Formats: sequence, structure tokens, C-alpha cells
Amino acid sequence: MTRKKRPEDLRSHRWYGVNDLRSFGHRSRSAQMGYLREEYAGKPVIAILNTWSEINPCHTHFRQRVEEVKRGIWQAGGFPIELPVQTLSEPFQKPTTMLYRNFLAMEAEETLRSYPADGVVLMGGCDKTTPALLMGAISMNLPAIFMPAGPMLRGNWNGVTLGSGTDSWKYWADLRAGTIAQEDWQGVEGGIARSPGHCMTMGTASTMTSAAEALGFTLPGAASIPAADSRHAQMAVKTGMRIVDMVWEDLKPSDLLSAAAVDNAVTTCLALSGSTNAIVHMIALARRAGIDLTLERYDAISRRTPVLANIRPTGAYLMEDFFYAGGLRAMLAELGDLIDGTTLTVNGRTLGENLEGAQIFNDDVIRRRGQPLLANSGLAVLRGNIAPDGAVIKPGAAEPHLLVHTGRAVVFKDYNDMAARIDDDALDIDEHCVIVLHHAGPVGAPGMPEWGQLPIPRKLLKEGVRDMVRISDARMSGTSYGACVLHVAPESFVGGPFALIENGDLIELDVPNRALNLLISDAELARRKAAWIAPAPRFTRGYGALHQAHVMQANLGCDFDFLQRGADDEPEIH
Ligand code: FES
Repeated sequence: MTRKKRPEDLRSHRWYGVNDLRSFGHRSRSAQMGYLREEYAGKPVIAILNTWSEINPCHTHFRQRVEEVKRGIWQAGGFPIELPVQTLSEPFQKPTTMLYRNFLAMEAEETLRSYPADGVVLMGGCDKTTPALLMGAISMNLPAIFMPAGPMLRGNWNGVTLGSGTDSWKYWADLRAGTIAQEDWQGVEGGIARSPGHCMTMGTASTMTSAAEALGFTLPGAASIPAADSRHAQMAVKTGMRIVDMVWEDLKPSDLLSAAAVDNAVTTCLALSGSTNAIVHMIALARRAGIDLTLERYDAISRRTPVLANIRPTGAYLMEDFFYAGGLRAMLAELGDLIDGTTLTVNGRTLGENLEGAQIFNDDVIRRRGQPLLANSGLAVLRGNIAPDGAVIKPGAAEPHLLVHTGRAVVFKDYNDMAARIDDDALDIDEHCVIVLHHAGPVGAPGMPEWGQLPIPRKLLKEGVRDMVRISDARMSGTSYGACVLHVAPESFVGGPFALIENGDLIELDVPNRALNLLISDAELARRKAAWIAPAPRFTRGYGALHQAHVMQANLGCDFDFLQRGADDEPEIH
């Protein structure tokens, strides 16, 4: 380790080390908590931002893991301080955790800014917690290391392996179609989530924790370890040990992040056939670091990146299998020249050095480059008169015959309208139609919920239809599947041309040519635009009003416009 700091250079020295009235207060209050002065004097203070809560099933083990992180910090000569931050519990928080991603990012940044932190361990994993914690840490730019929650074990019901989310949608459709009974459905309910940890399909959680590892923010191999595995506890100890040295080395997020590191993370998301949500989060993360990741760059990387992870919903296996097959390190090593091995990571070594010796132990779960699950295009960026600022689709999760398709629009003005009418037998719809949902974007929903896997009408389900072209300005869970066009920008609520689609219009989707168009004349589009009436704002006070006023569109990562800048204006601390 190369020490770049002396104890008096530490940020925390301003709280604990100087001899004035303020630091007297800090020391006397530390004594009040039972700490001896020698326990913290001259040591790096490590903030642990813990997203544990009693309503987040993905983080139930964080109560124990945080003690293991602290053990590592103590042993390495640091002083740990656990700071709870909001939990963003994907299954429980309404209308969507995405509404609060930027809230947690701000909380993380401001918690670090306002307390005596020299470095930080970020404990997250459930969907938005990972990008939120990283965004805050990037903006604060203190030495930071990420401790992923790890995936839960495989689900199991009557000998059938179940995957989070993916099998909920599947068996829910079967229940609605009448092909399974209510007691089967209850059996699935009891067996689909049977250990701590985040969703074990390739949802947003597995995608973003893997992206964090590829960006260099975790110790090697951390993202793939199941939460219930003893090696996960050991990784927590190692993470705590490492952050102390990172403080002395002054190894900060700005040292890790580069255009190449961002490309590595995007390549990782695509080779995993990861969640479409990762696009929004990766753009937001990159922009916090001053790196302008565009949808075009994402699409270009998608065209050259094979899908190697055979994990649901695109593939067959689950994260537990991925870990046993060699985990993320093995997959990144197999990607070879598609990964830039020169980028720096939290252990002070390059990504390439961290991949040395990585092996694939099951090449059906982690495919070889020569036998990928899909040759390319884990994700496609679409443009056209419906989405001048872009839209996305995950072709591998859609029925192939729908990737070039023209159909009649059936429009729902908002989620409630859809919920009220989608299963009405009188609805004029067939399997060739294109289902359109308005007012589901960042401002309009609000918070761009995961509504994008719009339900197939019950009458069509009964006929055996399982996929249709569906378009919205919403997101979709990474565990979802189907020919769902998402993230349409600009969104309908703010007057994007997507708002102008009417029932009966013809919509043309052409994924190979990356096109999404409404087949009406420019003159008719202009006439509708002139007649469009802006809806009333959703909020007049509180966080909702702040979100509504400052959230940017999906193609810019849905960050707040005023958070784009880095940490260049830290107030002096007295
Ligand atoms: Fe937490 Fe899926 S519910 S990751």
C-alpha cells in the first residue's frame, strides 16, 4: 500500500483531531457512546451506508453483514460508523422505487458530506439501491467500495425451479388463463423466495451489482456470491478491510471511472442480457462522473456484444448456477477483447489483473464466445417519429416474429384506464394489435414505474396468445419478458409525439433497422401536436414537486438536472 495521507490529512481530523470547542463536543459525545479516544484518534472514519430495513426482504442479512464489514474495518485500523439510509424496497414501495432513486442518491451524498467520513462502504443490491448509492458516492468522490447484497437461492416448488419475477409473471398468466389452480399459485407463492438476497434472475439487481463490479467498485467476484453463502460473509469482512487502505491510498471514484470503465459496465450488462433498467442507471451514473454515455453508444456496444449468460428471463438458469459456473469473473474473462482490462478497481489492481485465472466450470450456464446464447443485440435502441429521443427493446426477451411488425394501436390513456379495460371482452383488440400505454414516464406516472410489460388481454390469453407488441414510456422489470418497447422519450405527459397516438393508428416496429414509427403524415402529426393540451401537474408540494420539476427524460438517465455536476462545491466544515 502506498500511503498518500497522514492522519492529520484525513477529512475526519476536522471533527476529531483539532483542539477547539467543536472537536471537544465531538470527542465528548463519542465518549458518551462508550468509545475510547484511542479507538478513533488518527484513524480513517469509515461510513457504512446500510440500506437494511424490516421491509426489504433482499437486505434482511445486512444486519449481520454490517457486523462483518465492521469487523474488517476494525482489523484494518479504521473506525466504522454505520449510517442507515433509506431502503428502496422494490416489492413494497409505491408507486415505484424509481421515484426515490434520486432521493437516496442525494441522501447518500449529503450524509457523507455532513458527517466525518473519510471513506464509505455502500451496502445495497435491491434494484435501485445500487445505482442510487453509487451516484451519491460518485458525486461526493470519497474513497468508496460497494458491498453487494448477493442473489437469493433458487426458488423451488414441487420440484420445479422458480425464478424471481419471471415465474410470477408466467404463473400469473397461467392462472388468468385457467391452466393452473389457485392451490398451485399458492405453492408458487411459498417457494419462489426462500432465502435472503436480491432477485436471482437477471433482473435489475443482478445486472447493476454486476455492473458495479465491472466498473471497479467491488472486490473481484463479489457480485455473484449468493447472499446465503458463507463466502458472502467473508467478502463483507474483506470489503471492510479494503476500504481502510483505500482511504490511506486516496483511491476515489474519480480514479476508477473513465469512458472505458463505463463501456466495460455496459458490455457486462449486455453480455448478461441484463435488465433494460440498466440503461437509465448507467447513463445517470456516467453523467455524474462527467461521462456522456448516449443511447447510441449503448446500441453500438450491444451490436458487438454476445449474450453469454444463460440466465432467466432470456436464458434458462439462475444466479446461483452462474456463481457455481464461475461467476462474473469467468464471464468477463471469456469476453476477452470486448473488455478493457486496463481500468482500475477498488483493490488497486486493474480489471484485467483481477480476471487472471478465472475459469468457466459449466459452459452451458456461461457460454463460450463461440457458442453464445445470442450473437448480439441484448438490447436495441429505437428511433422514429414516435420516439425522437429514443426508446428501447430487449429483442431476446420477445417472440422473434414480432420484431418486425405493423399493427393497429389500442391506446390506454393511463394505468387506471388500462387496468379497467384490458380484460373487457368487448375491447376491440386481436393479437396483431399494438398496445399503447400513455402517462407512464418519469413525470407522468410519476417515477417511470415498471409497467412496461403491459398485460395481454385475458380473452387473448385464453386463445394461447403470450406475446404482443406493447409500447410505453414506462420501464419494465428486468425479470419481465415480451415484445415491450420501453422508455419512449420524450414521454407522453410532457407532450412528446408519443402522446399523439390515437386508437386505430398504424404503428410500425422494425427492430433490425432500429425504427419505431407512427404511419401518419407529418401534417397530421403537426395538427395533433397543435391541438394537444398539457395535463395538470401531478404535484404542487413536497418531494413529488421537486421530482416533477427537475427529473430528466429516460435518454438522459432520469437524474435531477441540478445533480449533474460533480462535488465541486463542498462547503467549508467548521
Ligand atoms: Fe429486491 Fe428484486 S425485489 S431485487
